[in-house]
Amino acid sequence: MPCLAQRCVCVLSPELSAHPLLSPAGYALPLVVCPLDSKGPHVSRVEMTQLVMPSDANALGTTFGGKILQWIDMAGGVAARRHAGGPAVTASIDSVHFDHPIQLGDVVVLRAQVNRAWRSSMEVGVRVERETGPDSTRHHAVRAYLTFVALDEHGRPRAVAPVEPATEEDQRRYDQADERRRQRLAVRR
Ligand SMILES: CC(C)(COP(=O)(O)OP(=O)(O)OC[C@H]1O[C@@H](n2cnc3c(N)ncnc32)[C@H](O)[C@@H]1OP(=O)(O)O)[C@@H](O)C(=O)NCCC(=O)NCCS
Repeated sequence: MPCLAQRCVCVLSPELSAHPLLSPAGYALPLVVCPLDSKGPHVSRVEMTQLVMPSDANALGTTFGGKILQWIDMAGGVAARRHAGGPAVTASIDSVHFDHPIQLGDVVVLRAQVNRAWRSSMEVGVRVERETGPDSTRHHAVRAYLTFVALDEHGRPRAVAPVEPATEEDQRRYDQADERRRQRLAVRR
C-alpha cells in the first residue's frame, strides 16, 4: 500500500491498515511517520579520530594519500549508513584535495556528513584536520566528496530519505551538491 508522501513503498500490515489514523483508501495520514521522511545532516554526522603510525607514513614522515583515503572512505561510509539506515557502497570519490600534509605522530580528526540525498545516492562531504602542539590545535588538511548508494537485501539500489538542511552552512552544502552531482554523472561513463 503506497504511503501518502509517495517517496517510498510502505507495505502496511492488515492490522495497521485498519488503524483509525488511516484514510478509508488505506493511505497513511500525515500522523503516520513515513520511513523516508527527511532527516537533518546531524543524523549522519560522524567524527572519527586516528593516530598516524610509522606504517601510515612515507620515508619523509608524511602520511600516505592512500591511507588518508581509506579513513575518508570509512568515515563517509558510516555517515551514509547512518542516513540510509542500512548498507551503502561507495559509488565514486571525487574532489579529493590534499591541501596540507599530515605528519607521522599527528592526531587526525575526520568529520563527515551527508550533504544531500537523491533517490538512492547520497553525497557525503568529509573534512580532515590534524591536531598538533601541546594544546591540540586543529589545522585543516584535506577535504573530499564521495557518493554512496544504499542497497537493499538483494544488492540493488534502494531509496533513501531526503536531507533537510538545518543551518545556513547545511543549506549551502545542499545547494552546491546538485551541481557537483551533475558534473560527476556527466563523466560517469
Ligand atoms: C554503485 C552501484 C550500486 C550503482 O549501481 P547501478 O546499477 O549502476 O545503479 P543505477 O544506475 O540505478 O544508479 C543508482 C544510483 O547510483 C548513482 N550512481 C551510480 N554510479 C555512480 C557514480 N559513479 N557516481 C555517482 N553516482 C553514481 C546513480 O546516479 C543513481 O543515483 P539515484 O538513485 O540517487 O538517482 C554499482 O555500480 C556498484 O555496486 N558498484 C560497486 C560498488 C563498490 O564495490 N564499492 C566499493 C566497496 S564499498
